[in-house]
This record gives sequence, C-alpha cells and structure tokens, in this order.
Amino acid sequence: MSDEHSNLPVVNLITEITHALSVRRGPLIVEQTLSCLADMNLTAESMQQLEPCMPSEFIDNFDVAVNNIPSQLSALANAIDASKYSIQWNRDLGQFYVKDAAVGDSYRNRNMNCILIGPQNGFFHSDKLIMGLFFLRPRTFYRDHDHEASEMYFNLTGPHGFRFDMSGWSDYPADSIVWNTPWLPHATRVYDVPLLTVFAWVENVDCLCRVVHTDDWVQLENELVTASAG
Ligand SMILES: [Fe+2]
Repeated sequence: MSDEHSNLPVVNLITEITHALSVRRGPLIVEQTLSCLADMNLTAESMQQLEPCMPSEFIDNFDVAVNNIPSQLSALANAIDASKYSIQWNRDLGQFYVKDAAVGDSYRNRNMNCILIGPQNGFFHSDKLIMGLFFLRPRTFYRDHDHEASEMYFNLTGPHGFRFDMSGWSDYPADSIVWNTPWLPHATRVYDVPLLTVFAWVENVDCLCRVVHTDDWVQLENELVTASAG
C-alpha cells in the first residue's frame, strides 16, 4: 500500500505545473497538454511508487536552476524544490533515443529528465501524454533532433538558445513556451544558466527521437566550452 503522505510533493508539483500552464493558454500545444491533464485522476492515492534518485553531480547545478526561476513562478519553483528528492531522475537515453544515438558527449554527460506522467516509468499512467522535467547543465549543446510527437517546452529558466529546422538561433527567456511540431528539427544551447523546462509530448507519444545531422555540431559544442573557460 502506498504512503499517500509521501506522494504529496509530486502531486503538488503536477498541480503547480497545471496551474502555471492554465494562465499561459494560447498555443495549441498548451491547450492539448491541459486537455490531457484534465482527463486524468491525479490524486496521491492513485500515484505509482518510483524509487527516488537525484544524481549527486547534478544537485548544485539543479539548485542554481531553481533559484533562477522568476518570481511569477515562485509557487512552481517551491514545488520543484520540495519534490526534487522524491523524483526518479533518469540519466540514460533509453526512453527517448536508441542507445548509440549520435547525441554527443556534451548532451550525453549533462542531461537528466524525470517522467511525471507517461505510458511507462511515470508516477501516473497515460497513453496520450508524456510530461516531466528536463534539465541540462550549463554549457550544454543539445544537437538537432526530431520526433513524431508534438512537444512543448515550458522553459522555467533562461535565456537559452533554440534553433528550428537547422536555421538561425533565437534566445528564449525564462517563462517562455517553445512548441516543437511533429518532425520539426530543433536544437538547444545552454549558456551559464542551467536549463530547467517542463516538457510535454502529445500525440504519437510512443515514438523515439531521431538525431538530424548538421555540419556545425563540433564547432557549436566547442564554442560553448571555450566561452565557459574564458
Ligand atoms: Fe524534442
């Protein structure tokens, strides 16, 4: 039998994500995410038990990220801080990529995610929605990739660089929504502030990510490391 009291930080986190999205309505991907959430039974009694795991080498960067969440999202920031040790943070690529995908060492060594809701490995089960937190340490380059699912990033920190369809870079601030439509290649570069984002997949959530090759990956990865050292 589950300990419903210990489930409360995670339930509260999902509640605060839902509340924050509900006052950022407009983009279709936000509406679709909220629609999936509204259909779910997100109570402490119905939550699955997952073994908590926070990689020790990530915790300092993670706390920096939480401290960089802007004040209008303070309730969500507090909910993340209160639940961070109750969450199963994943370091392996298995759920979203084939094991030997060419994501590069920058991404491979500097990313973690947690699944709050999903068809497998989440606290709550859904076949229509994957929602969780996605984290990248500072100076990470996340190479161009695409997938059949439609994806939301609700960026809680920033600025971070994004490019779409392998064209020009744009910086997105904290408290911004990015919508990656199906099969649209997208890449992310993280500067000094760690990336912490709420991600959601709707439609075709059983798909895998595909790396989309470009010739400038090594240059971009080196630029981020050089800027860090300078
Ligand atoms: Fe993506």
